[in-house]
Amino acid sequence: MLKTTVISDGSDLARRISRRLGARHVRYAVREFPDGESKITLRGKISGRIIVVKSAYPPVDTGLLHALSLIARAREESSEVIAVVPYMGYARQDREFLSGEIVTMRVLGRLFRGAGASRVVVVDIHSTAGLRLFPIRTTNVTAIPDLARHVKKMRLKDPLVVSPDRGGEGRAKKFAAELGTGYVALEKKRDRSTGRVQIRTRSTDVSERDIVLVDDMISTGGSIVKAAQFLKRHGCRRVYVACTHALLVGDAKKSIAEAGVAGIISANTVPGRTPVDVSGAIAEAVRP
Ligand code: R5P
Repeated sequence: MLKTTVISDGSDLARRISRRLGARHVRYAVREFPDGESKITLRGKISGRIIVVKSAYPPVDTGLLHALSLIARAREESSEVIAVVPYMGYARQDREFLSGEIVTMRVLGRLFRGAGASRVVVVDIHSTAGLRLFPIRTTNVTAIPDLARHVKKMRLKDPLVVSPDRGGEGRAKKFAAELGTGYVALEKKRDRSTGRVQIRTRSTDVSERDIVLVDDMISTGGSIVKAAQFLKRHGCRRVYVACTHALLVGDAKKSIAEAGVAGIISANTVPGRTPVDVSGAIAEAVRP
């Protein structure tokens, strides 16, 4: 069987994927020039079936260009190059919401194919509509069972899983099934021009219950803050957040704590967060 090589920046997640696959792990180094350009250098020989692991957390554009450059280089050595992009930036730009907006997910699909990826693997993408715009095979792996296993050990009181918006209802349902509890989805409205978030739900019975707010990602924290404030107003006990990609941009962590959230549980798709490991699910998806 063809040997597998994993190329990565040496993140915890990539090292674990590589170990699980028994793959050769080749790291790359990045030197950043004063004008913002990157010089990417592979630190070893690559061959066989190649898996490029690069999560596109901020700076998103730079991360994506690193991934595309590595894929293009890998394609020179291999006819099978799998791109593992655990956090896929631009996933929320999967349709033209306001007239004139460019659907960047469609552009990314072409770029990944053009660079030479035979397949793209992501984790809990914001919506699979974006993946359908890719002209190559895609797989969306879920971290929900891993996150739920972690939450289960927390011994919460009468837990209720809550999605901050209707779009995340399926995710909340899956999470609640893993936890063996109920779920509700709030109604969130985001102003497409300003990005401001409002919770439209009028009331919900959460009194004295521990809440697990489940989301695919936290960026500015706006959605979680509004949902937590709403749930607190309705008399819930503690609020925890379980999300796959904790980007926590700017003051997000501070605002979420100030909204009374007791803790954020997230996956290792973004380095340095609560280490809920999703390497098992990814390794299964890319195993030959
Ligand atoms: C939106 O529908 C997503 O599922 C997340 O809720 C949202 O993108 C998180 O962004 P922010 O933290 O900036 O509200």
